[in-house]
Amino acid sequence: MPLQSNSLLNRFFTLIVIMLSAAPFSSAQAGGKAHPWAKSSLSPDDRAAMVVKEMTLDEKISLLHGTGMAGLSPMSPLAAHSNGGAGYVPAIPRLGIPAIQMSDAAYGVRSSGENGRYSTALPSDVAGAASWDLDAAYEYGALIGRELRAQGYNMSLGGGINLTREPRNGRTFEYLGEDPILAGKMVGSVMKGLQAQHVLGDLKHYALNDQESGRNAVNINIDKRAARESDLLAFEIGLQESDAAAVMCSYNRLDGDYACENKYLLTDVLKKDWNFKGFVLTDWGGAHSVAKASAAGLDHEEPGWIFYGDDLKKAVESGKVPATELDDHVHRILRAMFATGVIDDPPQKSVVDVVGGFEVAQRIAEQSTVLLKNDHAQLPLDASKIHSIAVIGPHADVGMISGGGSAQVDPPGGNAIMPPGKGQTRWLEKIWFPTSPLKSIRAKAPGANVRFDSGADPAAAAALAKSADVAIVFAYQWESEGMDLDSLSLPEHQDALIAKVAAANPHTIVVIESGGPVTMPWVDQVSAILEAWFAGSRGAEAVANLIFGEANPSAKLPITFPKSEADLPHPTIVKPPKAATDADREGWKRIAAGLPAFQVTYNEGVKVGYKWYDAENKPVLFPFGYGLSYTTYAYSNLKVKPGKNPRVTFTVTNTGNRAGAEVAEVYASLPAAAAEPPKRLVGWSKVKLNAGESKDVAVEVDPKYLSIFNVEHNGWQLIPGDYGFMVGGSSQSLPLKESVNLK
Ligand code: BGC
Repeated sequence: MPLQSNSLLNRFFTLIVIMLSAAPFSSAQAGGKAHPWAKSSLSPDDRAAMVVKEMTLDEKISLLHGTGMAGLSPMSPLAAHSNGGAGYVPAIPRLGIPAIQMSDAAYGVRSSGENGRYSTALPSDVAGAASWDLDAAYEYGALIGRELRAQGYNMSLGGGINLTREPRNGRTFEYLGEDPILAGKMVGSVMKGLQAQHVLGDLKHYALNDQESGRNAVNINIDKRAARESDLLAFEIGLQESDAAAVMCSYNRLDGDYACENKYLLTDVLKKDWNFKGFVLTDWGGAHSVAKASAAGLDHEEPGWIFYGDDLKKAVESGKVPATELDDHVHRILRAMFATGVIDDPPQKSVVDVVGGFEVAQRIAEQSTVLLKNDHAQLPLDASKIHSIAVIGPHADVGMISGGGSAQVDPPGGNAIMPPGKGQTRWLEKIWFPTSPLKSIRAKAPGANVRFDSGADPAAAAALAKSADVAIVFAYQWESEGMDLDSLSLPEHQDALIAKVAAANPHTIVVIESGGPVTMPWVDQVSAILEAWFAGSRGAEAVANLIFGEANPSAKLPITFPKSEADLPHPTIVKPPKAATDADREGWKRIAAGLPAFQVTYNEGVKVGYKWYDAENKPVLFPFGYGLSYTTYAYSNLKVKPGKNPRVTFTVTNTGNRAGAEVAEVYASLPAAAAEPPKRLVGWSKVKLNAGESKDVAVEVDPKYLSIFNVEHNGWQLIPGDYGFMVGGSSQSLPLKESVNLK
């Protein structure tokens, strides 16, 4: 975003004066003299309050906005102090307050290219959710936190948890699926891991930014109860679990008001009902006003200061924005900085643990790749019995695709399909990470003749498949911020390619690289399917380990795979009229002033994902919570102990002949008076079991997960009556059932 011109030059010089007014420092200590708030035994609130008291109005304002994006203002003296990330808030050396250096970090640190440092690309966020593993999620966040610090950042712009209400959303890969409890708990764990590294975390994009098309103009209509029980519940749980430092408000409007000046979202729900103590920052260019936004609860504008610079200062001076309101914004930012440890323990640039990062990325990829089909135990392959393998698919010789937009991690080694040495990645460019399926498969089957065909000519690919014992097709569907998918079909005629290969070889295995569900007209023709998502820096090694049985699949779908777009709540995405398009450089001003709204109405309400297909009796391709293993599991002994937190206990047995990990899922149906969809996920446990082993599992259910949101009383309410508890290995395979009366 360009730096704004007019009176902003003044603002700019003020900032420089603030920055240069003392020597560089890195803690709440300046000039050797400890500030009273340097004492880490004081509470973050007390420390923040002490700083606020000492601040001048200019210093306060300087904390409430960004300073332009470094890449777009290279001549700016501020850029010299920015670490090159998406956001930079200058330090206040006089008071020992360090700069906030923000980087996008959805599935790894975004800005490695800009500062010449390395970062690990983890499997995409939706893949992380498919692991259903809270420890893996913690590790996911911790790795990002460590690499942010090593690169000089102290704030992550990750934590996307918009529910997959619209699976064609181009950012589905950045989010955590369609269930608010799964998404909320998983993001909570990611944030805990991240913030434990003393990095500010944020949850985004608050809220209901569930499509990219016309995101700066769209007005979302949804009833309050449905919103509280779906998209907002994911944020509520995520914040409750993690105490994330920040929430990023989204571009869209909700019920007529932009999210970043929406009092219901920012104050009534977030700050009052959820008692959120952190700060709200805009999505980039998401601010639209001064007094209205400030009163609604917006604390910080990014990436510039269209509203929260001179105009905010004037509004405070003239009394339009009360001084107490201003102080609250400042207090929240400082409090978050103290609470997260970014002041007491500032980042030190260091060398990233490359090998450690690869190991984590690979382990999570193995835990998050979903085995969707495995007829006649086609997988795992036994390398000692296979003589020839055909590896087929676009770029499957060199790389695996990754998710684009602000989440894009620059691949170490460059884009696998471009000449070496090519510079940083560009917006809306497809990036293939240099993790080669062909090489990984060759490494696992050294005795076999492993040959490659790109699939560009389906007849040639089919001929190669016919001549091999096994054909493995790597198919992809790319996604990015800034676009939605036209359909869930694989692009580049890959459906026809797979059908042709499958017709030539009955042992055809398909590996899907996608950010979300794809349709599979060829599903009955192939023998095995793996959903690998965007699999990260070590995707190919992980997939090869799964194919050859060195790892046993244990992931489950966090999103329903529908049979076709016609079954979605909205068969087509509502697009904006031409005038209301997204930002171009000139467009920023138009966007800030407010684009004409177009309407999207979520009539399906709380029926997101499986709740929709269940309620509408629509058969699906693969249900939510589904995923196979190379072993099998049995469930027995269900008992439900009613009480404030009902306790669900049962036994899971590994009935096969290899060790594995089963995601045991607990669903509940509410009494008819609640008027809810047939069932909802209320808990789960990922259970590791050796062959033949049984384990007793206990899941305590939070009463909120069994409640409805009562809008009239503005609170959660448990409807007294009979609750059905169902336990099993997917939302459509729930062998254990018991009904209990709850009051
Ligand atoms: C995205 C945010 C991102 C920001 C900064 C926006 O376009 O919506 O998710 O954090 O840019 O790069």
